[in-house]
Amino acid sequence: MSRYRYHLFLCTNERPSDHPRGSCLSRGAGPLLDIVKEEAVRAGAPGPFRSNRSGCLDACEDGPVLAVYPDGVYYRVTNREEIARVMKEHLVEGRVVPELQIPNPRPARPS
Ligand code: FES
Repeated sequence: MSRYRYHLFLCTNERPSDHPRGSCLSRGAGPLLDIVKEEAVRAGAPGPFRSNRSGCLDACEDGPVLAVYPDGVYYRVTNREEIARVMKEHLVEGRVVPELQIPNPRPARPS
């Protein structure tokens, strides 16, 4: 059983500016975690709830990446309005936001 009803991971990985994949930090992820927390509270997201910074989630080209677990849905979020939509529609109303979803993140590498 999951410890949290929702556990969100915002990628804040940083790479050199000339890296071919870029990074979520260079795409503006830096200030977004505070907004995630604020908008989750504003929306009344069900708890227990937690949001954390993360390293690379392997969807770099589509970043900034916000992953919603336990559902395993990846979103590209760039501003408060988009984050507010994910908090309200996914966390509160329980439906994926297709306009913001990263549809086909790379398959996970075998361990
Ligand atoms: S750098 Fe954010 S998903 Fe890879």
